[in-house]
Amino acid sequence: MKKILYINQKINSFKKEIFVEGDKSLSIRWVLISSLSKKKSVSYNLLKSEDVMNSIKCIKALGSKVKLIKNKCEIIGNGFNIKKKTKIFLNAGNSGTLGRLILGLLINSNNTIKLIGDKSLSKRDFSRVIEPLKKFGAKFNTKKTLPITMKGLENPKPISYLETKGSAQCKTTVMFAALKTKGVTKIKAKKSRDHTELLFKYLKLPIKIKKKEKFDLIKLKGARKIEPLNYNIPGDISSCAFFIVLTVLSNNSQLLIKNVNINPSRTGIIRILKKMGAFIKLKNQKIYKGEKIADIFVKGSKQLKSINCPAKWNSSAIDEFLIIFLVAAKAKGVSFFKNLEELNQKESPRLIWASKILDFMGIKNIMTKNSLKIYGNPNLFLKKKIIIKNFLKDHRVFMMSTIAALSFGGYWKINDVDSIKTSFPKFLKILRELRT
Ligand code: S3P
Repeated sequence: MKKILYINQKINSFKKEIFVEGDKSLSIRWVLISSLSKKKSVSYNLLKSEDVMNSIKCIKALGSKVKLIKNKCEIIGNGFNIKKKTKIFLNAGNSGTLGRLILGLLINSNNTIKLIGDKSLSKRDFSRVIEPLKKFGAKFNTKKTLPITMKGLENPKPISYLETKGSAQCKTTVMFAALKTKGVTKIKAKKSRDHTELLFKYLKLPIKIKKKEKFDLIKLKGARKIEPLNYNIPGDISSCAFFIVLTVLSNNSQLLIKNVNINPSRTGIIRILKKMGAFIKLKNQKIYKGEKIADIFVKGSKQLKSINCPAKWNSSAIDEFLIIFLVAAKAKGVSFFKNLEELNQKESPRLIWASKILDFMGIKNIMTKNSLKIYGNPNLFLKKKIIIKNFLKDHRVFMMSTIAALSFGGYWKINDVDSIKTSFPKFLKILRELRT
């Protein structure tokens, strides 16, 4: 595959219907949870991206059997017992979700686990999961970054844990470890995506949840076994986000995206864009195994308004801000996004990148450590040359830049095409469908 994408033409308006690939958070969770059951779990529409394939490689290294046949995936796990080896070597590649969650699963393993990742993951903060896992009794060779060597223990102790970042990865890591204890773990967590809670409830695991305005209180008892999990993975709203924005920014376009996960803890982008004047409707809403699913219908918008984005929506749009900033670039007025320190903790420092790309586009913006002010230009039309280096091969920086090029014009050279393999391998294929 070509490593650089050149775009020198805006997209023409389109009226189409598409499917996007399976949700990444649900795909990784399905793989990891299935590895805990001794019986066969089956999924359809599992996302076949590098993050998910690395999850499969990791559970295989831990003794699970995996069969992938076209759209179907079967996993037979090894119960709660990881195979006994002196040293287990795991590579999480680019995935923070995999790297963090799998440490939770390994809390009761006596083996020495060595975890590595790619250049981007090796820069990211792991102290956020190392600290709570130490409370369960695990031992680590490091305080903050990969490579990590961890040693678990046969009888981890339940803990009380306060999660203050709104990180579903931290919450889920602790929930996975809690399953392996003999007592009750208590979690007070700032609001974040709740896929793990819904899956645990569906599996009838001993979990109690109290939803408060800003926090959730979770009580989770250890379990000794887990039933198999059969699951049809719905489309990923984070992948849809790029096409939603492409449509919103294209005057006469219409798009129907079928069968998407619209869990309210993930749909911040819809709330934010609607507030900015976008036309988005949810159709055929239904519940599947606790998750909300719908078709998303979007129309191009002629007039977009700026937004002072409420920080309480941040966690439900955390992976979508890069693309939301493009809508702010075209909106009338000055938009303001705050309390976004977590954005610089992603695959690359995304707040910094967003500001740079807006600079390249000639959009005035003011960035602080955790906020971004964007001075929108409703007549934005680019004629210049823009090069996106994308040093850390961040998939969402690549896709955001592609949508900017197709929406605003200009002559773009965008590195690194292969980065889409992390979360959305079919991104360019779907774009080609919209262009024909
Ligand atoms: C994820 C949680 C989010 C998100 C990531 C996937 C998950 O990270 O950015 O892409 O599947 O739990 P944080 O929990 O660190 O915010």
